[in-house]
Amino acid sequence: MSDKNRIECLYLSQEDLLEAGCLDMRMAMDAAEKAMLGFRSEEILFPDKIVQIFNEATQERINCLPATLLPEKICGVKWVSVFPANPEKHGIQNLSAVVILSEIETGFPVAFMDGTLCSNMRVGAMGGIAAKHFARQDSRSIAFIGSGEQAKMHLIAMKTVVPSLEECRVSAKYDYEEEQFISEMSRIFTDMDFVASGTDGQKAMDGADILVTATSAQAPLLKAAWMKPGAFYSHIGGWEDEYEVAKQCDKIICDDWETVKHRTQTLSRMYKDGMLGDDDIYANLVEVVAGEKPGRASDTERAYFNAVGLAYVDVAIAHAMYQRAKDADKGKRMSIQETMIFQHENLSEYIRI
Ligand SMILES: NC(=O)c1ccc[n+]([C@@H]2O[C@H](COP(=O)([O-])OP(=O)(O)OC[C@H]3O[C@@H](n4cnc5c(N)ncnc54)[C@H](O)[C@@H]3O)[C@@H](O)[C@H]2O)c1
Repeated sequence: MSDKNRIECLYLSQEDLLEAGCLDMRMAMDAAEKAMLGFRSEEILFPDKIVQIFNEATQERINCLPATLLPEKICGVKWVSVFPANPEKHGIQNLSAVVILSEIETGFPVAFMDGTLCSNMRVGAMGGIAAKHFARQDSRSIAFIGSGEQAKMHLIAMKTVVPSLEECRVSAKYDYEEEQFISEMSRIFTDMDFVASGTDGQKAMDGADILVTATSAQAPLLKAAWMKPGAFYSHIGGWEDEYEVAKQCDKIICDDWETVKHRTQTLSRMYKDGMLGDDDIYANLVEVVAGEKPGRASDTERAYFNAVGLAYVDVAIAHAMYQRAKDADKGKRMSIQETMIFQHENLSEYIRI
C-alpha cells in the first residue's frame, strides 16, 4: 500500500524543546521582530481569537488563537488555558498551552507541541525587545512585583538584553513565592544578587533601573514615586500600577496600541477614563524595530512598555522552535492516519452499522 496518504506530525513536549535549546531568548526575539515586520507587510494572516470564559469572577478561560506565516507556508494555532486561580487553589501554574502547526501546501499538520514555553517566551521576548531600545544599557538593578512564570521569563529576557544587571529584587503576595523565585532564578544567574522584599512592593521597586509588574492582582500596586528618572517599566498583567506611573513617563510604547486600548490593563482603563489619548502613545514596538522611531533619547527619560500579546508572534516563535527541535532530532514522529478512511483493507471489520 502506498503511504502517500499517511499523515504524521512531530510531537514535541516541553522537555524535547528544552533539550533542543529552544529556551533561547535571542532566537525568540529574532522570530518576534521578523513577525512584527512581516505582519506590517501583510505577510501574516491574523484572524480574531476565539474566547470561551468558564467563570466570570475568576476569568478562567481557554482561548483559540490562529495565525498564518505566509512566507514560511505555516499555519498555526495556540490553544491556551488561563486559570488565574490555579496557583493559589491547586498549587499549579496559571497558564498552559499547546500549539499545532500545519504546512499550507497540502494543509497537513507538521507539529503538535507544548505551547507554554513559547507563550511565556513571547511575553519575555517582547519585553526584551522593548528594553533593548528603551532601558538604560548601564542598568544595574531590576525589580519585580509578581514572581510567577511571567516574571521569571522576563528576568531571562531582561538579562539577555541588559547583561549589566547585577541585582534582582522581588516582591509577591506571599513570602514563599519570593523564595521560590529566588531559588529557581539564582541557579540560572549565579552572577546576580537576589533580594526578597518580604511582600513589600516599595522595598523591591523603589529606585530600580528596570521595573516589572507581572501579577494576577487587579490593583494599583506600583506607585509613581518609586519609578526614578531613567527607569524602564514593563507592565505585563492587568491593572497593576497607579495612573500617575504612565502620566509621568516620557515615552509609552505598546505592542499594538489599538489592541491595548480595548482591553482591561492600566493603559486601557486610563483610555476609557479619558486620562490617556492616542497622542500620548509614543510608538508601537514595530515602528522602533523598523528604525522609524528612535528608542531612548536621554539618560533621564522614563519609559513604559505594555504588550497585550499578539498571537502571530507565538506562532512565529513556535515555528522557530519546531525547526530547531527537528534539526536536533528531538521529539517523536506521531501517526495521525496511515491511509484514507476507505482504503483501510479491514474497514468492514471495524465499521458499526
Ligand atoms: N501581557 C501578556 O501578553 C500576558 C501574557 C501572559 C500572561 N499575562 C498576565 O501576566 C500576569 C502574571 O501571569 P503569571 O503566569 O506569571 O501568573 P502567576 O500566577 O504565575 O503569578 C502571579 C503573581 O502575582 C502575584 N500577586 C498576585 N496578587 C498580588 C498582590 N496583591 N501583590 C503582589 N503580588 C501579587 C503573585 O504573588 C504571583 O507571584 C497575569 O495577570 C497574566 O494574565 C500577560
